[in-house]
Amino acid sequence: MRRDIRHFRPGCNIPEEQLSRLLEAARHAPSVGFMQPWRFIRITNPTLRRSIHALVEDERICTARALGEREDEFMRLKVEGMQDCAEVLVVALMDQREQHIFGRRTLPEMDVASVACAIQNLWLAARAEGVGMGWVSLFDPVELAALLGIPEGARPIAVLCLGPVEQFYDRPMLESEGWAKPQPLCEQIWENGWRGEGQIR
Ligand SMILES: Cc1cc2nc3c(=O)[nH]c(=O)nc-3n(C[C@H](O)[C@H](O)[C@H](O)COP(=O)(O)O)c2cc1C
Repeated sequence: MRRDIRHFRPGCNIPEEQLSRLLEAARHAPSVGFMQPWRFIRITNPTLRRSIHALVEDERICTARALGEREDEFMRLKVEGMQDCAEVLVVALMDQREQHIFGRRTLPEMDVASVACAIQNLWLAARAEGVGMGWVSLFDPVELAALLGIPEGARPIAVLCLGPVEQFYDRPMLESEGWAKPQPLCEQIWENGWRGEGQIR
């Protein structure tokens, strides 16, 4: 089972050939109009990794405050594994996406959907090779863009933590920590309209 991982074996690395295989899997993802809008930035500099971690920590605190009565509960959750994972990748949307209108004229967010497909491919490929991956979206994209020299028009959308793990949790961590519950399929699928209330014309 694929799993979002926040506990990594410290002091490990991912062999270069393995990382290349995982990134190859990512770039074979489907994309709207074949625009391939994903860009991956590998973070190898430890100071830079710490700076990104600091942005995540800032946003973790802002998120906790915004949650109001669930603040303390949120602060007890582990929401990233940046300090121990073998690799950190920042995934960004490329710039100049406005030229691409095939499949995006009415749905411009299909660029984000395409990048999410690439990240999911990476996630599944990593799991197939026994490598853990966690997706972190707790950061200010403007600050992260400035830190990484990401140009105007491009936008970071994910920080990915990858690396060897002791174990893959058997359930989503947010489920076992009591944060959220899995919804049954029957509540997520309807026939012929929203809650079955479509108009047959
Ligand atoms: C778009 C996206 C953003 C996410 N951001 C975070 C995050 O910032 N921190 C975190 O701990 N998990 C994050 N996750 C992981 C989810 O919490 C996780 O997928 C969910 O709890 C279900 O668990 P599972 O992936 O193990 O099935 C993210 C997942 C997605 C798809």
